[in-house]
Amino acid sequence: MIAVDGPSGSGKSTAARRTAAVLGLRYLDTGAMYRALTWWLLGQQVDLTDPAAIVARLDEPVLTVVPDPAAPKIRVNGIDVAGPIRTREVSNAVSAVAAIPEVRQVLIAQQREVIAEAVAARAGIVAEGRDIGTVVAPDAPVKVYLTASEEARARRRSADLAADPAATVATIKREQADRDRRDAAQLVMAPDAVEIDTTALGLDAVVGEIVGMARGWAAVSHG
Ligand code: DC
Repeated sequence: MIAVDGPSGSGKSTAARRTAAVLGLRYLDTGAMYRALTWWLLGQQVDLTDPAAIVARLDEPVLTVVPDPAAPKIRVNGIDVAGPIRTREVSNAVSAVAAIPEVRQVLIAQQREVIAEAVAARAGIVAEGRDIGTVVAPDAPVKVYLTASEEARARRRSADLAADPAATVATIKREQADRDRRDAAQLVMAPDAVEIDTTALGLDAVVGEIVGMARGWAAVSHG
């Protein structure tokens, strides 16, 4: 299993998904799970400043993930939410939800199940998020921590949100700084992770490094 952690805009999702495709592994986007829960809570008009109100509703939304790098899927109570979870509304609301310990407990348990299923099926998996290498799967044999300059991260997020005219680089930069501050507790580099600065690296170079690490590990552990 490969753990890929890092802040938003570090190129984590694209690199993790591509790595999984290249190596024939499954792919789990844990941020999508926090986003899907947040999307559902917003739709239910739950007050996101009230952790008790959120915790009281936690057993209602059923999250389903399909960890296929060719066609990853995320559903809440059967509804495909891949599109709506990427809006700025969700991006700006999700940290408050992800900061609640009961929320993390529930989602981390589900993430560990998806990882355990992949390991049991001898399929292997690339899981990406903030706390994969530290909390979700501290035994992961390959851990990567992606970083990038603030400017590069904001540019990438803004390009992702090209359809949203309000998503200028300056606005995204401000929202990103707010989110970084709120996410800081979750985002810790594991002491045994390899840090890759993606500011000046293309996707192929980042994927190449991770694939190289994974093959190196496989060669050592399987002879
Ligand atoms: O990676 P992302 O931007 O899709 O993550 C969405 C939010 O979820 C982000 O604000 C931090 C949170 N998150 C988390 O707390 N733990 C994770 N393992 C993944 C994401």
